[in-house]
Amino acid sequence: MPPIQRHRIRLPDVDFSRKLESDVYFMLDDADGGSRRIRFHDYDAIYAVPGLYEQIFYERLKCDSPRFLAQRLEEVLAAAGDDLNRQRVFDFGAGNGMMGEALAHHGVSRLVGLDISAAAESALHRDRPGLYDAYYAADITGDDPSLREALRRWHFTCLTTVAALGYHDIPAAAFREAFNLVGDGGWIAFNIKETFLGESDDSGFAVFIKRLIAGEFLQLYHLERYRHRISIEGNPLYYCAVIGRKLAPLVA
Ligand SMILES: C[S@@+](CC[C@H](N)C(=O)[O-])C[C@H]1O[C@@H](n2cnc3c(N)ncnc32)[C@H](O)[C@@H]1O
Repeated sequence: MPPIQRHRIRLPDVDFSRKLESDVYFMLDDADGGSRRIRFHDYDAIYAVPGLYEQIFYERLKCDSPRFLAQRLEEVLAAAGDDLNRQRVFDFGAGNGMMGEALAHHGVSRLVGLDISAAAESALHRDRPGLYDAYYAADITGDDPSLREALRRWHFTCLTTVAALGYHDIPAAAFREAFNLVGDGGWIAFNIKETFLGESDDSGFAVFIKRLIAGEFLQLYHLERYRHRISIEGNPLYYCAVIGRKLAPLVA
């Protein structure tokens, strides 16, 4: 990995408590005295600047999800008599490889990433070359039989999706495609904002997740509320880690 570059970032002096965090922005100062505004969810702009994603989300906002999910996955598999080292993992919504790095730390048999963003793929090759056995920049719901065939040939036994489900990120239809690429009996691990499991959230995505967790498609092994990261005001943002076994293909 290249040396970590430091950037001058500034959070705005505004009370965002009533806004969605996805609307929040920060200012990035550049070397020639200029500065620009970047929204938290403008991943392409963030990935384009080496080290910026890590600095904002992992260092400043203390995101711990890849390490946490990879650790829990290893523990859950061991308790079930399986082994993370044997898994052929599909890291869906892989970004610039933070989850891939956490998984590689534990050791997996195969590691394949996919992200809808070409900027994520470029950042991955730039910052963590060789981490994945293959990495695809594509829309998994697109009409591309060669992509589907290429993914099927990996015979995935495990799916990981970290910090990428819901709202402006991966929609239910895309997650369904990824889920169905894992063989029956394979492991599924993801995290979601805790509100998606609340009774009051009847948005399409929350209904999908609740049906997935409670339904006949997934055998739940582990459900845990934990601190995913802090907000820009320093408050804990809780997510739920979900680990289970695929029982049957998800149908729409
Ligand atoms: C917050 S980042 C998380 C990246 C990585 N998993 C991590 O933990 O650092 C969310 C990622 O989801 C990706 N994403 C959003 N919609 C997607 C889709 N439909 N298919 C695949 N990836 C998607 C974004 O491009 C972005 O890289």
